[in-house]
Amino acid sequence: MTDTAGGGALPARGMPATDVLGEIRALRAADRPTHGGRLFAYVYDPGVAGLDALAQAAYAESAHVNGLDPTAFPSLLAMENALVGAAARLLGGGPGTGAPDVVGSVTSGGTESLLLAVKAARDARPDLAEPRIVVPATAHAAFAKAAHYLRVALDTVPVDPVTLRPDVAAVAAAVRPETVLVVASAPSYAHGVVDPVPEIAAVAQAAGVRCHVDACFGGWALPWLRRLGAPVPPFDFAVPGVTSISVDLHKYAYAPKGVSVLLHRDPALRAPQFFAYAGWPGYTMVNPVIASTRSGGPIAAAYATLRHLGEDGYLRLAAATRDAVAGLADAVRATGGLRLMAEPETTVVCFTSDDPQLDLFVLVDELTERGWHTQPQLTYADLPASVHLTVTAAVAPRVAEFGPALAEAVAAARAAGPVVLPPELLALAGSLTPEALTPDLVAGLAGGLGLAGGLGLAGGTGVPDRMAMVNTLLDAAPARLRERLLAEFVGLLQRPAW
Ligand SMILES: Cc1ncc(COP(=O)(O)O)c(C=O)c1O
Repeated sequence: MTDTAGGGALPARGMPATDVLGEIRALRAADRPTHGGRLFAYVYDPGVAGLDALAQAAYAESAHVNGLDPTAFPSLLAMENALVGAAARLLGGGPGTGAPDVVGSVTSGGTESLLLAVKAARDARPDLAEPRIVVPATAHAAFAKAAHYLRVALDTVPVDPVTLRPDVAAVAAAVRPETVLVVASAPSYAHGVVDPVPEIAAVAQAAGVRCHVDACFGGWALPWLRRLGAPVPPFDFAVPGVTSISVDLHKYAYAPKGVSVLLHRDPALRAPQFFAYAGWPGYTMVNPVIASTRSGGPIAAAYATLRHLGEDGYLRLAAATRDAVAGLADAVRATGGLRLMAEPETTVVCFTSDDPQLDLFVLVDELTERGWHTQPQLTYADLPASVHLTVTAAVAPRVAEFGPALAEAVAAARAAGPVVLPPELLALAGSLTPEALTPDLVAGLAGGLGLAGGLGLAGGTGVPDRMAMVNTLLDAAPARLRERLLAEFVGLLQRPAW
């Protein structure tokens, strides 16, 4: 920042617009590349020329419109209803289907959609003192967050280490009289595997319990893949017993961030999702979703994206994604020492290694060094550490380059050998308990791992180029300790810039 006299983002004198934009662009230079098909997490890039400009223009049109009151801004209501209609149609609902009364809401993202699905299920059963939800172990962490925020107990059903799906009998056994919701993923984020939705929904229906299908990640990809001939198993409102579905438009609908849709099979199921309050002297607040004031920007941008791409566009993008997934999976199969966690059936390629000389965390660093940004996943229960690739259409033109890069990175990782943590770090990690962690301890640990930049000491981003040591340490720690370590670390990153 050139002038921060007023404190942080606020200069003593306002700056010219071009300078401000220059600052933002300079800051953005440190980010991972959001376009170009080499980042396999966080971003969803269709690689369609002109789409960004359209979405940005649409965003700008509605950025100051407030979703707080749909009667004041009918433009937003119209676009929300159009998005919900499109999502419902795509997912087996709407006139002429077995779910003609589907309704929904536009939320800010997958996490908000899942929180609201849990809230609706909880508040539909005010008679229960201790409501519970049943989720497969591979369900997104947002369900744990929802359970935590809403004081609902979380019953986790393990998944089979080979199929990566829960056993339906185990799901049935986990359902209790206090259960308000049973969850299935279509597909799971970590491995891209579709749960046995018809069987899980049947279990829920037999118990008189709601069933939410989390299609946040792949709900906008699976229908197109199916139309292209892929053997996509049933997962939507065509399945009896499915009471709600979430689908994120900021994922495979390729809209800018901030838009997800939560659908319910009928209005009565949605009703407990809403919050209304008239017990104060101001306006009566009626909120279908968590936020009250909401920018129309993301909604307008999503609307423009769907209108511009159309069914033909999404089919084309799904075909490109399917081919990219096949190409990347072939590259993994052709590389000695790597093993696919599951045969790719959606838009994810996830692999692990059985070779003790090939450290996956070192491999991830070697790939990063070569310009390929993959996502390491830590060991969980009897599932090994793995490398996750979210594949989008923009990856297709890059696939031929990935195989050689992967082979090279594997050779380099083998040559480097597995990470060996310094004994003093291991001793420290071994003696740590989540309760004993203090900010000072974490700062010491972060320094020892080369994360000092993140503590504002060197003005860096806090994340060194090579993360294998950090990942190895986290991998060795139990889940509770991982959570606390990372929470403390992020706390250290989030400090005011004066
Ligand atoms: C299956 C699934 N559900 C929920 C979410 C949470 O979505 P968000 O990050 O938009 O809150 C994700 C994110 O990747 C996901 O993959």
